[in-house]
Amino acid sequence: MRFDLCLPGRVLFGTGAIAGLGPEATRLGASTAVIVTSRGMPGRPAFAAAMESLARDGLQTGLFTGVEPDPCLDNIAACVEAITERGGDLVVGIGGGSVMDVAKEAAADTGLPRIMVPTTAGSGSEVTHEAVFKVDGRKRAFVDAGLTPDVAIVDPDLSSTMPARLAASSGIDALAHAVECYQSKRSNPLVRALAYGAYELLRDNLVAAVEDRPGARASMALGSLMAGMAFGNSGTTLGHALSYPISNRGVPHGQAVALCLPGVLEFNRMEQSFAAALKDVVRLTGGHWQPDWDISEMTEEVMADQRHLANNPREVTAGDVRQLFQQIAADFPPGPE
Ligand SMILES: [Fe+2]
Repeated sequence: MRFDLCLPGRVLFGTGAIAGLGPEATRLGASTAVIVTSRGMPGRPAFAAAMESLARDGLQTGLFTGVEPDPCLDNIAACVEAITERGGDLVVGIGGGSVMDVAKEAAADTGLPRIMVPTTAGSGSEVTHEAVFKVDGRKRAFVDAGLTPDVAIVDPDLSSTMPARLAASSGIDALAHAVECYQSKRSNPLVRALAYGAYELLRDNLVAAVEDRPGARASMALGSLMAGMAFGNSGTTLGHALSYPISNRGVPHGQAVALCLPGVLEFNRMEQSFAAALKDVVRLTGGHWQPDWDISEMTEEVMADQRHLANNPREVTAGDVRQLFQQIAADFPPGPE
């Protein structure tokens, strides 16, 4: 047996963990931290808590709020320019998966250390060496050990105010990471131990987290972190492969993955009863099939990118993909919106 594991040097988890941002920045030798985030983040409690911690440790701060949803390569270039202009010697990514992906890539391009702080519980990007960007209008995953964050700070309080729809879609994305990497052909015993623990936490707390019952969102934050540590080191499989053409048609990543996961659980013969129950939670994400989506075209897109498919435990043909898309269209028909 042989495997390589890529993980951040340090992971801080727990309520109030954000207070560790300043001390961690100092430990990394930084004097000016550039915060990379999205336009809506300044003014939110997560942002204020991060700024407060950095100020308490005497760090200067710069800001780049230009990360777009489903970012393209131009977005990274703009971020790199901002980091250089503001004289940053540390990159702090605060936000969801897209924000952290841009922050990691920009930090790698500028050779700077980086700290990731998720504000949703789902992407796992705070601990992975993977980032997804749109190239020529299509999503593509980039995997490189050089993208690994130095520190991940996962404070469940920061994701506690997510609206129900986002809690559902990000939670199912995390669940998909756990399931897919557990089954991946590139998995290993350490990945499977993390993935299985993550799977149980996410499965048992998903509905409660959507309903915002006490403690559930903290469990989802932990499950998402564990799933991220796992899938970053074994890759995802059929669920993510199917989700890309859906995302390429404008559906956010979590919603797209959610539409695909129940069918994938059935196809890979895993947790059949849970797959049926999951469909009700998927409907809470607000995602659904669109009448103008061309199944043949989407099937071609899936089959053209074998990176995820090659990891799937069961061989997947174009006919299987077509059938899975037909099932999604039947299970999640166009909604009223
Ligand atoms: Fe994902």
